[in-house]
Amino acid sequence: MQGEKHRASRNRTITLSADERTSLLSFISDITDLKAGYRDNSIINADLADCLDYIPDRYFDLIIIDPPYNLDKDFNGLKFSAMTTLSYEGYLRRWFYKVCDKLKENGSLYMCGDWKCSSSMQRVIEERLTVINRISWQREKGRGAKSNWKNCVEDIWFAVKNPHDYYFDVESVKMKRKVIAPYKVDGKPKDWEETSTGNFRLTYPSNFWDDISIPFWSMPENTDHPTQKPEKLFAKLILASSRQGDKIFDPFLGSGTSAVVAQKLGRQFCGIDINQEYCLWAAKRLLNALSDNNIQGYADGVFWERNSLNLQKSSQQLHKRTIKGDEQLNLF
Ligand SMILES: C[S@@+](CC[C@H](N)C(=O)[O-])C[C@H]1O[C@@H](n2cnc3c(N)ncnc32)[C@H](O)[C@@H]1O
Repeated sequence: MQGEKHRASRNRTITLSADERTSLLSFISDITDLKAGYRDNSIINADLADCLDYIPDRYFDLIIIDPPYNLDKDFNGLKFSAMTTLSYEGYLRRWFYKVCDKLKENGSLYMCGDWKCSSSMQRVIEERLTVINRISWQREKGRGAKSNWKNCVEDIWFAVKNPHDYYFDVESVKMKRKVIAPYKVDGKPKDWEETSTGNFRLTYPSNFWDDISIPFWSMPENTDHPTQKPEKLFAKLILASSRQGDKIFDPFLGSGTSAVVAQKLGRQFCGIDINQEYCLWAAKRLLNALSDNNIQGYADGVFWERNSLNLQKSSQQLHKRTIKGDEQLNLF
């Protein structure tokens, strides 16, 4: 059990007590609940294959997919085994076409992968959607290899149903970067701002992301999930490709990152994961988000560079809000 591991006192990894595990069970649905009727804002503990016929078609504005990559991986007892590229493409097709049916005609879809499975993903995505871009996320941490290059990059495919009609709000994902060469015209900063904490420029993001770390033990979002995505990463996808109140679907929810960020940013969500423990972690994170809706690295409407927490604190008002007494987690 996760709670029994010995952890340093500053370790903020989310764990569950036996009592919490029991009480959080009431926040997650199963296939029987889903068959009784689809509801927004639900965490469904089930096999994706069993769920798809009970989720409405053309319903979601945004779908975020972070499936098992083509690697040997132990998801809390459920082992995923590496296979040939051809077999992996077959695996993707078994659920991807139906997942696409859930996307609105003007909706957007993102799929995460690594170098090994990424080309399979592109091929399968293009059988149903138009790929608009591929984001490369430099995730810094990677296992060193003696006879190969260390793998430090992941791909995130961005695809839409209709390349002439989809929502994209680039203004909501601007980055605040330190100015290296502060250029002035007539003594005034050109395209940058002089502040008491330094010189900064607001820039539009490219498809190379080097400002996001993998969650680690001192971060409040961290769980023991082996492939947890950072909230900052999904915040960019959600802000750029959905509006307030929009509906977001994550067929491989894991520790709940997409649902948590959706809730923090005022979107609706539906997430599925086959593993009950992961669904419980997701529920706990959603509860925590009621009293703390900060997204590390995103403050005052802009994305900050890595390792800039102190700068953010000293120059920005972090997005704190008061929780009303009657506010509660409304999960179905
Ligand atoms: C790469 S992880 C997703 C991690 C997630 N994005 C996060 O931030 O925690 C893939 C997840 O898919 C789940 N999974 C694998 N096969 C599944 C299936 N057939 N139905 C539902 N979930 C499945 C695993 O339990 C695992 O948590």
